[in-house]
Amino acid sequence: MKYFTLKINTLAWGLSFAFLSAMLSCGNKETINNAVTMETMSKKDVTLSVIHSRKSVRNFITGKTVPRETLDTIVRAGMAAASAVNLQPWQFIVIDDRTVMDSLAAGLPYAKMLAHASAAIVVCGDSTVKAGELAFWEFDCSLASGNILLAVEAMGLGAVWTAVHPDTVRISTVRTMLHLPDNIIPLNVIPIGYPAGNDKPKDKYKPDKIHWNSY
Ligand SMILES: Cc1cc2nc3c(=O)[nH]c(=O)nc-3n(C[C@H](O)[C@H](O)[C@H](O)COP(=O)(O)O)c2cc1C
Repeated sequence: MKYFTLKINTLAWGLSFAFLSAMLSCGNKETINNAVTMETMSKKDVTLSVIHSRKSVRNFITGKTVPRETLDTIVRAGMAAASAVNLQPWQFIVIDDRTVMDSLAAGLPYAKMLAHASAAIVVCGDSTVKAGELAFWEFDCSLASGNILLAVEAMGLGAVWTAVHPDTVRISTVRTMLHLPDNIIPLNVIPIGYPAGNDKPKDKYKPDKIHWNSY
């Protein structure tokens, strides 16, 4: 239980550190938002800029392909996430086939933007991977998803987490379409594409949510 609480408290830090290490290992020539490069910004500035400019993108420029190399870089950032006991209980289904994208769009009511996105990543957890008796896949895969969303932003692309787990109907829809075995649970579907430009980051800073030393 103590370990569980610790995981929640360190979620944001884990996400930031894992994301940063992934981006650094992916090559420092990568163009960051606003055409600023790693050479002209400090590590801190680059990381915070990406974190604060990330937003859910639901409107995409249609018909533009995201190269597989780029999708691989994005998944690599996902795999850099922290995970309980370093068990890495994730599996990633990367979709760039128009027919599969359109089938998912038709089957998932809250992921209609898949019809206009260029690609998608389905982040899945392996429910049989456990630390003792406890399964942490939801937390671990959420961290991996956070890294994916940040990597997408850093690469000038856009994405949005669309929920699958814990909705049993959506899980069943995705399981059938992607031929997932029973132990592999789809957490989300993340459509990825070139942003149309109308989705903006929200300022969510609320000082009244911060409690120093006690609630
Ligand atoms: C667990 C989770 C489930 C979400 N499910 C959906 C969804 O099914 N469809 C969707 O369009 N957005 C979904 N979102 C995106 C949220 O609506 C979005 O993150 C939130 O409105 C804050 O906006 P921002 O991401 O631009 O900061 C989900 C986000 C999370 C973290």
